[in-house]
Amino acid sequence: MAGNSRSSIHGQWSSRWVFVLAATGSAVGLGNIWKFPYIAGENGGGAFVLVYLICIAVVGLPVMIAEVMLGRRGRQSPINTMKSLSQEAGASPLWQLLGWSGVLAGFLILSYYSVIAGWAINYVLEMGAGTFSGSSAGQVKAVFDELLADPLKLTLWHTLFIIATMVVVARGVRGGLEKAVTFLMPALFMLLIILLGYAMNSGAFMQGLAFLFTPDFSAITGKGVLIAMGHAFFTLSLGMGAIMIYGSYMRSEDSIARTAIMIVAADTVVALVAGMAIFPIVFANGLEPGAGPGLVFQTLPLAFGAMPGGLLFGTLFFILLFFAAWSSSISLIEPAVTWLVENRNMKRVSASIVCGIATWALGMGTVLSFNLWAEVKLFDMTFFDLLDFLTANIMLPLGGLFVAVFVGWIMSRQSKADEMATKHLFAFRAWNFLLKYITPLAVVVIFLQSTGLLAKITA
Ligand code: TRP
Repeated sequence: MAGNSRSSIHGQWSSRWVFVLAATGSAVGLGNIWKFPYIAGENGGGAFVLVYLICIAVVGLPVMIAEVMLGRRGRQSPINTMKSLSQEAGASPLWQLLGWSGVLAGFLILSYYSVIAGWAINYVLEMGAGTFSGSSAGQVKAVFDELLADPLKLTLWHTLFIIATMVVVARGVRGGLEKAVTFLMPALFMLLIILLGYAMNSGAFMQGLAFLFTPDFSAITGKGVLIAMGHAFFTLSLGMGAIMIYGSYMRSEDSIARTAIMIVAADTVVALVAGMAIFPIVFANGLEPGAGPGLVFQTLPLAFGAMPGGLLFGTLFFILLFFAAWSSSISLIEPAVTWLVENRNMKRVSASIVCGIATWALGMGTVLSFNLWAEVKLFDMTFFDLLDFLTANIMLPLGGLFVAVFVGWIMSRQSKADEMATKHLFAFRAWNFLLKYITPLAVVVIFLQSTGLLAKITA
């Protein structure tokens, strides 16, 4: 028999396409448009992009398939799913910890994700008001610096974004979100293509492409490789149960592997197009590729400010960026909310309010890290830097590592084959092999080399 007989108490997607759209909505977000370009810029470009793409293929895709599979088989919040599945496999109940660390990671990520999404909201208004028409690079940068220096403004947008997220989560999987992602994602992609067209004519298109796609391995450090791998998890929403919980709402008869390939491909294309649109603008205006988290907010307004129809397109672009962030943020908190509903007997609405308030409070640390607490540092990192580093580069890869070990080594071949129901034996074996050996090895090696330990061991 294919699949299993469990069903989720929280509901089910109405079709295969809805799962694809929701998971793509979760994957495509600030990670693709805000984070990928700036970390590629900070880590030297081409070599970083290459490592990132390799990680997507040998680590990201197999783990994505594994997470969807676990979720669909368990049909509960990631914590309870890991509990049932470890029981089914006769393994230690400690595997639940995977679910717990995921809930914690999701909560930590959403706390700062919301602040950055708030920047996008602010830019909708600035764009719409014509702030950037004919602006110079210096003027555009000044607007960004002013925003970061203003804790009240940042708090306002952060609050608004958390409310927006929790309203959708409170309404459940089918209410609202399903419909929104259906047309917002394609619209965002269209606008990125328009920006790409502008970048092609900006005079520095080839320079931008060369920066992104010519690997210069002297420009990347051990830490850069760790950041590339961490980003592969972050951008695909892996390693914390987000894709697992979305998989738990998937219909039993749909193919997991084919669906996962589509999501990974869409996510990667969006990131690369964003990079190809942004770097030519960076070079054409003599800006710094390593400008940091402000990169998109200091380049794109410049492009919009100079192009015909820029007021309209620019405003639309930031609206869509907000929506991309919104459809991602939901998946960050869904595992925590479903756990409260399952184990604490809470209503979805109250569980959402509790989670929203906690995330909001923690997010205030990120708000302040850009101004009043800018000098408060631990390991040379601000509060925001620290949260970002801890979650994306440590917690998510560790979560992914344990998913790979569980599916590769603990789960019975029969359970896996049941759930995958594949006719392609070769593909199934290749996937199983990657999860068993390559994914864990890659994560461990990258961890070790980033700490300098690998060099010591091999010396
Ligand atoms: N993938 C999203 C982005 O690229 C962010 C995100 C949503 C996420 N859900 C996640 C990251 C779960 C890690 C884990 O913006």
